[in-house]
Amino acid sequence: MQTIDRKRLRQLHARELQQFTAQHPRSAALHDRAAASMVAGVPMPWMARWAGRFPVYVRQAVGARIIDVDGHEYVDLCLGDTGSMGGHSPPSVVSAVQAQVARGITMMLPTEDSIVVAEELAHRFRLPYWQFTLSATDANRSVLRIARQITGRRRVLVYSYCYHGTVDEAFAVRDTAGATRSREGNVGPAVDPAQTTCAIEFNNIAQLEQALADDSIACVLAEPAMTNMGIVLPAEDYHEALRDLTRRHGTLLVIDETHTFSAGPGGCTQAWDLDPDIVTIGKAIGSGLPSGAFGLSHAVVHRLGLQRDADYEDTGGVGGTLAGNALSAAAMRATLEQVLTAESFEHTVPLATELRLSIERLIQSRHLPWNVTQLGCRVEYSFQPRAARNGTLAHQGIDRELDAYLHLYLLNRGVLITPFHNMVLISPDTTAADVALHDRLFTAAVDELFPAAVPVTPAT
Ligand SMILES: Cc1ncc(COP(=O)(O)O)c(C=O)c1O
Repeated sequence: MQTIDRKRLRQLHARELQQFTAQHPRSAALHDRAAASMVAGVPMPWMARWAGRFPVYVRQAVGARIIDVDGHEYVDLCLGDTGSMGGHSPPSVVSAVQAQVARGITMMLPTEDSIVVAEELAHRFRLPYWQFTLSATDANRSVLRIARQITGRRRVLVYSYCYHGTVDEAFAVRDTAGATRSREGNVGPAVDPAQTTCAIEFNNIAQLEQALADDSIACVLAEPAMTNMGIVLPAEDYHEALRDLTRRHGTLLVIDETHTFSAGPGGCTQAWDLDPDIVTIGKAIGSGLPSGAFGLSHAVVHRLGLQRDADYEDTGGVGGTLAGNALSAAAMRATLEQVLTAESFEHTVPLATELRLSIERLIQSRHLPWNVTQLGCRVEYSFQPRAARNGTLAHQGIDRELDAYLHLYLLNRGVLITPFHNMVLISPDTTAADVALHDRLFTAAVDELFPAAVPVTPAT
């Protein structure tokens, strides 16, 4: 098995940084200007996470390609961290949005598009009633309130190192003594998350059983496979146990499909035949136009109706002026009807499989202690010999130095992957040649790092 020569890794990274700076004078100038008016020179803190000294500034993003202000073209395998999983500005969404923008953006009145979207989501995710928000974060915040209200219970359950958006209750981890504590770096929590939350490890049925035992948990907020630290897939029996135990203890099951939508047209809910009480989703369903949604079962909606003291229609804490606006509804309708269709996954999933296989071959031929996982059209590599079974183990496998080198190597040669962990996402516009380019570059980056591992090819 190979071990990393850290000195070599730092030298290679320094070389890539030099190349990056030399190749991006216009982005550098814009970033210098931005530093005077935006914190850290970026409109949103996550954009400071890109591997170069500054993010590249975009001139144009279309399909699976981005062109930056210095004229470099990239194969985009980040796709707005899934917001553009359907490709950048799909023509059908552009037309629908252009038409709607001229007919009214937000009216505090519904359009027919919202019905079509709700019907389509109901069909895909198997929950009958839907509400709209502006983001997946908003959807999660709303359903936590609803779950607490209808169960009369205060605490929610999440997995250590989950991510569900900027949702206070979800910034909690389980410590080695089994107690719930605030996740490191949590900015200004209103209360100690231990008061609102119980954090357990994903894939641990004993911990789940114990946490639910006293019937005090309003809901489990769960990604069906964790995606925030690489992909952590569920053990074979996990979802069955999760559903059985939550039912037995009167705890609602909320499945967050925001990222796991990569699994197929109905996310993991459809692909794995899950039976949640509530589903939340956002990002890709509107091709990146601000949109989010949550779906509710018949039973949940019935219980909502019994809550005479809860003000769902005004200032009770669910909803927002722009939520469900006509523009987002038009974007969601076009995305679901014409972009992220069942047929599109027939193109993207096999390409993702090809990408995963190419990385598996590299791992094997170079004897790397790494692994690669796939969820539909999404692939992640991680620097541990085996795929992690929970968020804490996945978190321990993060190697920021290695991430920075590999990401920058790819970027300098025309391939973007997400700045957080190592997600590679395939859109309907991604081609086999794009996947082959990633393979060539990733192999070259690895071979520069481990020159002794390169197999000797027999002379012909
Ligand atoms: C699983 C999951 N849910 C919800 C969100 C929140 O999405 P947004 O930031 O668009 O509100 C994210 C964001 O990455 C996520 O990973």
